[in-house]
Amino acid sequence: MTMLEFSKLSVELNSPMTDEYKNLLLRQMANQAYCELEGARFYSKWFNRAPGIEERKIIAALVQEEFEHWALTVELMLELGFQFEEIENRYTNRLFLILIRLASVRATWSDTVMFSFLMESAAFYPVRDNIYSSYAPWARMSKSILEEEEQHRESGANLVRNQIRRLGRDEMQKSLKKWWPLSLNVFGSPNSKNEEIHKRFGFHIRSNEERRQNFRDDLEPIIRELDLEVPKLRRKTYPFF
Ligand SMILES: [Fe+2]
Ligand SMILES: [Fe+2]
Repeated sequence: MTMLEFSKLSVELNSPMTDEYKNLLLRQMANQAYCELEGARFYSKWFNRAPGIEERKIIAALVQEEFEHWALTVELMLELGFQFEEIENRYTNRLFLILIRLASVRATWSDTVMFSFLMESAAFYPVRDNIYSSYAPWARMSKSILEEEEQHRESGANLVRNQIRRLGRDEMQKSLKKWWPLSLNVFGSPNSKNEEIHKRFGFHIRSNEERRQNFRDDLEPIIRELDLEVPKLRRKTYPFF
């Protein structure tokens, strides 16, 4: 059982903080900021290429909102004395970066909408948990963007639905098969050595495995509602494929 050293929303900007606390906080924020920025960049490539007016409106809203989330996160980091130029050096979620680069290279619209649906859904869980962070400004900021992140999953599902209408379900089933195991991996290893310390510092209220399970429990019925099948996994434990 992990002893909680910092209860939720108990630390403010001017509260005393150890270097260890501050560094871990900055690392999470840098990860979040970078995912938001990469998301905005990824969507912006489809501004004038998405196949219909509804799709372009959704893409424009996603670009604007992800960019706003990036800015809100970076502002919190600057308040803590972090240098703007340092942000990329603090970025540790390499897997997400590799995935988004992979999805960006010669991606079809079908891949893009599936990637959006799965990644926006995955991105919701850390934000949902961050509203209970021990660092109160981060908790408040996360609460302020939570509703938009929830809507992004809806937007992703709508994009998938439209694409099924356009091309039929087989094409989207193929994309789902490709991205499903990868999306399960973004929650990280179940045995991450950082989990204990993140819990102790009041940064994470759930483990990687619990978040991954929440994602699966929520997404699998939506996938079936979309008239798609949840792909079978060749490897049923992390790393999934
Ligand atoms: Fe976001
Ligand atoms: Fe989002």
